[in-house]
Amino acid sequence: MDPLHDIPAADGFPPGVLATVPADTAELGARAAALLRGGEVLLLHGGLGAGKTCFVQGLCAALGVTTEVVSPTFTLVNTYDGRFRVHHLDFYRLDAVSDLDDIGLPDLLDEVAEGSAVLAAEWPGPLLRSLGRTPFLEFLALTGPGGMGREWRLRGRPEPATAWRAVFRPGGVAC
Ligand SMILES: Nc1ncnc2c1ncn2[C@@H]1O[C@H](COP(=O)(O)OP(=O)(O)O)[C@@H](O)[C@H]1O
Ligand SMILES: [Mg+2]
Repeated sequence: MDPLHDIPAADGFPPGVLATVPADTAELGARAAALLRGGEVLLLHGGLGAGKTCFVQGLCAALGVTTEVVSPTFTLVNTYDGRFRVHHLDFYRLDAVSDLDDIGLPDLLDEVAEGSAVLAAEWPGPLLRSLGRTPFLEFLALTGPGGMGREWRLRGRPEPATAWRAVFRPGGVAC
């Protein structure tokens, strides 16, 4: 796979929580939303159809976003206003020569640094080198056992706080 579409190895993450159905993935997004304080960077890894957008939909709904949350695959960035502003990015279709400045990334990162916005990025590989020392939470959605559902793993820089690890530790998402 080309570097734009690198997905980190699953064994680099601790075991995660099982999301059996799409509603579970959205519920995980909602639980993540409850832990946000503003200023977080969420990197969402996983193959096509892993549920990354579904997670952001649950997160935005829990933040009180009332407009429809749709994949930013072609726009690269969609912004939603809820309890926090959410910049939802998807770099799947970014080409190797694209300049992230062109999509206004420095301004988005300034808002995150001020704590007034949260950034959630699908296919976040190209973003990593722009983050500098900015802390981030990194999620990996894997196909669940027996090809059913998904397993959501979490790691971060620095290590995610206990409350975050509690949501993403092994066990089911009991809605
Ligand atoms: N836990 C889950 N189990 C089964 N299907 C799921 C789960 N979470 C999400 N999905 C489904 O996977 C499909 C792709 O989801 P999407 O969020 O668009 O993926 P991505 O953004 O990672 O490409 C959707 O039909 C969604 O409902
Ligand atoms: Mg998506």
